[in-house]
Amino acid sequence: MKVLSQTYVLNNGVKIPKIGFGTWQIKPGDDTYKAVSLALKHGYRHIDTAEGYQNEKSVGQAVRDSGIPREEIFVTSKLESHIKDYEGALQAFDKTMDELGLDYLDLFIIHAPWPWSEMGKDCSEGNVLAYKAMEDIYKSGRVKAIGVSNFSPSDIENILTHCEIVPAVNQIGYFIGIDQSKTITYCKDKGIFIEAYSPLGIGYLLDNPVIRDVAKKYEVAPAQICIRYLIQKGTAPLPKSTHEVRIIQNTEVDFVINDDDMAILDSIKGDPRRWS
Ligand code: A2P
Repeated sequence: MKVLSQTYVLNNGVKIPKIGFGTWQIKPGDDTYKAVSLALKHGYRHIDTAEGYQNEKSVGQAVRDSGIPREEIFVTSKLESHIKDYEGALQAFDKTMDELGLDYLDLFIIHAPWPWSEMGKDCSEGNVLAYKAMEDIYKSGRVKAIGVSNFSPSDIENILTHCEIVPAVNQIGYFIGIDQSKTITYCKDKGIFIEAYSPLGIGYLLDNPVIRDVAKKYEVAPAQICIRYLIQKGTAPLPKSTHEVRIIQNTEVDFVINDDDMAILDSIKGDPRRWS
């Protein structure tokens, strides 16, 4: 079976397709609608959006128009990073569901442990309040799994200490070169699954000469090496593209990078992202 059709199993038994289609930075409206429609056409069954991306409406429209049964598509959205209270989280979930136009969500996660405008701020209490709202939404059946994103081990420890349900997922920026070993080891130990956003280092990894050499050896594109690497690390990469050829290319990862080449890729150090 192709990797694209394979799934991992989350800590509550819910299945999650191994490759997700990311939609961060894809413009709301036509761009998102077309990209998600193409992704679904080419076999993706896992779509990742967020209230903060402002494209939930177009994602929901594409999912609904696809003609694919709802239960065959895994849809994730995220609680905006500044919402750190119980009522606010409940309301934000309702808004997300209105925007998406779906009856239920597969995964709802806290977008970040702090507001983007105040990165690093201690929001321990607020994260617990928001997560408790998500636990109640989960118990109502409107979401199949809940989790977090961009959480460090201590952010997660706070949730485990004060909440009831172990997060199913921690979605982090993970790609060749970045050191996420502490978070990954911690999450593995607690049964929290890792999703990898920006698997191509928002595109900057594709020019890396070492990755290009490995790609040449396997006769694949650098993007496919980046995605396959994350699959072999047991995570779910969330590549995104607005181009059909690339949307397809990013699913063709049914080859195996051998241990020696994985070690070469492991030896690449540094975060290539240039945030603009
Ligand atoms: P585009 O949308 O023009 O295809 P990441 O998933 O790490 O955030 O990377 C996304 C960036 O990488 C986007 O700029 C996207 O551009 C580009 N990209 C995605 N897939 C490929 C690919 N297979 N080859 C080259 N560039 C790609």
